[in-house]
Amino acid sequence: MAVQAQVNGHAQPGGSHPAVAGTQAQRAREDQEAVMATLGPVDAQSGSHLGHGGHAASVFVGRDQEMAEVLVGLDDAAAGRGRLFLVAGEPGIGKSRLAEEVAATARERGARVAWGRCWEAGGAPAYWPWVQVVRACLRSQGSTALSEDLRAAAVDIARMLPEIRDLFPDLPAPTAADPESARFQLFDSTTSLLLELAHGAPLVLVLEDLHAADTPSLLLLQFLVGQMADSRLLVVGNYRDVELTPDHPLTLTLAQLSREPSTRLLHLQGLSEDEVARLVGARLDVVAVPAIISALYRGTKGNPLFVGEAVRLLAAEGRLRLLDPAIVRVTLPKEIRGVIGRRLAHLDDAMQRCALAGFGARH
Ligand SMILES: Nc1ncnc2c1ncn2[C@@H]1O[C@H](COP(=O)(O)OP(=O)(O)O)[C@@H](O)[C@H]1O
Ligand SMILES: [Mg+2]
Repeated sequence: MAVQAQVNGHAQPGGSHPAVAGTQAQRAREDQEAVMATLGPVDAQSGSHLGHGGHAASVFVGRDQEMAEVLVGLDDAAAGRGRLFLVAGEPGIGKSRLAEEVAATARERGARVAWGRCWEAGGAPAYWPWVQVVRACLRSQGSTALSEDLRAAAVDIARMLPEIRDLFPDLPAPTAADPESARFQLFDSTTSLLLELAHGAPLVLVLEDLHAADTPSLLLLQFLVGQMADSRLLVVGNYRDVELTPDHPLTLTLAQLSREPSTRLLHLQGLSEDEVARLVGARLDVVAVPAIISALYRGTKGNPLFVGEAVRLLAAEGRLRLLDPAIVRVTLPKEIRGVIGRRLAHLDDAMQRCALAGFGARH
């Protein structure tokens, strides 16, 4: 039995005695069921747990300061002072999760929200995050309501989103223009459309994983941010700062964007030990002992993705209620770094080194 073999393989105190081993297997099953029931399925692309009905429904710990700042930004946007928040941090630190919470609160307050996720695996068309944003706006607006606003912009926007022609079967063909002018017209028309859509109620745009954005998409972001000071737009863009080299396209864009008065920068750090305890406590029906919490905190530096993975590992091995502080102190942080290493296996070497460096692991 797989669980049994894992338990015995880890030389638990008294682990070889059949009665004790039986109890441990039972405990492991209970721990595992508790974790699986609360974490839900794993998202295939990000490796994140989707939870039941999305993250917004599950526990969200900490980030009080960041949420407060972004929600002031939402108020600013609602009052006609457009805002851009750039949220940086290592993989798994909670950038997407923060964006989901902001989006949920913004929706409750009457804003519309459109998401654009940069595609990291390659092969996405140019402007992919903006294609998704415009699509989402078109869907939420309904084609009849926006027809007249959109008509003027549609010829240009059709360059990145050909399906927009379905809304306007009689749309003229794009006029021949040199590539630079065509791009400018596309930027101008997309920006006009988004500003128009944000006219009545705030519009929140979430741009995920900007480190993977194509350069034209970053230029369009710069263009929009330069025009949105008097708008009801709130843009929340996030990125992995560990990916940024001096010649990365986003590095230059960030330098430009941070000069705009509407820009705010947030850098997400690990959760505190108390927050890790709350995260573990809220995700499990079983009670983890304080030594486990503190080992989890030390081993993960409060990275919520890694806390989740480590909890799964411990649950699979029936060790969430391990009571021997010496074993916890000595072995757990090392094992957790092992889990982190496996979680990062899909990233390239340089990226793994950057991420692991934060956890004090030798590589
Ligand atoms: N503040 C938080 N409270 C509870 N869970 C969190 C928090 N931040 C992140 N998580 C969880 O940790 C995992 C990784 O977070 P995610 O937002 O996907 O990281 P990132 O986008 O920075 O790579 C997800 O399962 C997410 O739900
Ligand atoms: Mg993310």
